[in-house]
Amino acid sequence: MFIDCWKSAILIAALASVCCAQSLRQEAENAGLLVGTAVRPPQLSEAAYASTLAREFNMVEAEDAMKWWVLRPDRATYDFRQGDEVVHFAKAHQMKVRGHCLVWGRYNPDWLTHGHFTPRQLSRLLREHITRVMKHYRGQVFAWDVVNEALDENGNLRDALWYNQPGIGLSTEGTAYIEQVFRVAHKADSHALLFYNEAEGEGMNRKSDAIYVMVRDFKRRGVPIDGVGLQLHIPTLDAGTGAAADISSNIARLTALGVQVHITELDVSVPLDSNGMPKSEDLTRQAEVYRGIVRACLNNPGCTAIQTWGFSDKYSWIGSHSHGTRGHALLFDRAYQAKPAYRAVWEELSAGRTSDSKPHVNPLH
Ligand code: G3I
Repeated sequence: MFIDCWKSAILIAALASVCCAQSLRQEAENAGLLVGTAVRPPQLSEAAYASTLAREFNMVEAEDAMKWWVLRPDRATYDFRQGDEVVHFAKAHQMKVRGHCLVWGRYNPDWLTHGHFTPRQLSRLLREHITRVMKHYRGQVFAWDVVNEALDENGNLRDALWYNQPGIGLSTEGTAYIEQVFRVAHKADSHALLFYNEAEGEGMNRKSDAIYVMVRDFKRRGVPIDGVGLQLHIPTLDAGTGAAADISSNIARLTALGVQVHITELDVSVPLDSNGMPKSEDLTRQAEVYRGIVRACLNNPGCTAIQTWGFSDKYSWIGSHSHGTRGHALLFDRAYQAKPAYRAVWEELSAGRTSDSKPHVNPLH
């Protein structure tokens, strides 16, 4: 009896030590999955940032460097320097690159939003931008968030520069402007995967229903769309706890339409005390939220990428966005030490896909 206890203890210790012998990217590649993160070019020169990034991820996406407000300081200029830094780092470390984002109704440069352009002028500006940017990154960016966050919480089209303020001449035709943008993107780079990317439409709700209906319509009419990005910014532990089943159902119905799903901006916020620190029990709950989401993706063969919105709590949009009340949302702490969430993700990736959920497409090639 006593010897059996010792054997169990040794076994448990041995299993515990197994965790994380390989990196996330190694486990993900075994599972036929891309594991990525949003990156900030200025941090690529920070040794710990760069080494953690290269070791753990096989995909990157510029957090901001490929957006209008960075690429286009003025109407006559394309500034690809920051985006190129991301692409060069990815090439040096055998990583794939997602592009983000060609069309968004927010955070556009003042010269564009206050330029008093007519719909015809905006349509030309948009076509020129998409074509120039996609041709610049052709063969280097394998998938693009073509349109980002076009719907409101009820699934209706948001009022926005590119839709109806004043739009590109299709403001009375519903999703026609989105369709037009996807067609322009496909013409610019017919090899890139084209995604519609959205927040808060990850589970089963009115917004995800509207996304499903739009994608089904597009697929029926041959509009060139290849995937849906589910951002999955999870603002609280309560919001994330128990959400995986709904997310899995939504992934399943989208992939049944013949498109891929990428989880594109995953982060799970925890509450912070007056010193900006989380409770350890909340970090444990956070790990289980991450676990459920990774499992939901792995159990759906059409879910081919999981990407977090940053990877170290040292660099996350949430801190400033939440005025310090919540954060610590990522897999590594501010000192690049793996958190319980990292271990949970690693364990699910290591467990791999269920036998009937091998990916239809190999996202690694
Ligand atoms: O770098 C400048 C700095 O020089 C300046 O002093 C400072 C004050 O204005 O601004 C700094 O730029 C900020 C940039 O983040 C870098 O921190 C911009 O103002 C700020 O707008 C920008 O916010 C980004 C936001 O998108 C808007 O583009 C966040 O980093 C980024 O995480 C966030 O990401 C979005 C996704 O693209 C779409 N889904 C939601 C997600 C979170 O909002």
